[in-house]
Amino acid sequence: MDIKLFDKSDEQYVKEAANLLAACFPHAYSNCAFEEMNVILDEERVAVMAVEGSHLIGFAGAIPQYGVTGWELHPLVVNEAYRSKGIGSQLVYALEKEVAARGGIVMYLGTDDEFGKTTLSGIDLFDGLFEKIQSIRNLENHPYEFYQKIGYKIVGVIPDANGYGKPDIWMAKRI
Ligand SMILES: CC(C)(COP(=O)(O)OP(=O)(O)OC[C@H]1O[C@@H](n2cnc3c(N)ncnc32)[C@H](O)[C@@H]1OP(=O)(O)O)[C@@H](O)C(=O)NCCC(=O)NCCS
Repeated sequence: MDIKLFDKSDEQYVKEAANLLAACFPHAYSNCAFEEMNVILDEERVAVMAVEGSHLIGFAGAIPQYGVTGWELHPLVVNEAYRSKGIGSQLVYALEKEVAARGGIVMYLGTDDEFGKTTLSGIDLFDGLFEKIQSIRNLENHPYEFYQKIGYKIVGVIPDANGYGKPDIWMAKRI
């Protein structure tokens, strides 16, 4: 398995990445995964991919949001058949290296909880927000725990971002 900069000129990789995006986030990208890939591969952004044999099995992208210092990690996807083998972590580390080389000092991301997967869902987060963040628990494989394992910290939450009781959890890491 190889992790390298996303090869935008290879149509097969772009197609496989679009399919992966649509499969992982059908509610967001089932009808517009190719359009989203165009945006993800925009010149000012950076993306890395994991390739096994001649197939793309995962990728990650970052967006410069605060000049060159603060970058948003978006998206991150690993093909289901290849998960829990360290590929997601390696993609993020490779992306952090690329971002740091471009002047980035912090990477951050929003990880939604739309489907009741953490204790932050289904409650009023405007009441006692920081205590609730401090005692967060993972109810069903929510990826916030993956990010914690690779050094990201919860730095805030946007209550109701995806509807009442469906927050977006914000995490960041100094790279
Ligand atoms: C999240 C995702 C990228 C993780 O990729 P991966 O290749 O399986 O991750 P890794 O194998 O590098 O995992 C590193 C550690 O995080 C843990 N982990 C991974 N996903 C996790 C999850 N959803 N919940 C809790 N822990 C998780 C692993 O068990 C592993 O722990 P260990 O070091 O103690 O063994 C992958 O599950 C995925 O593509 N999910 C669907 C898309 C998605 O949710 N993207 C993130 C949106 S914000």
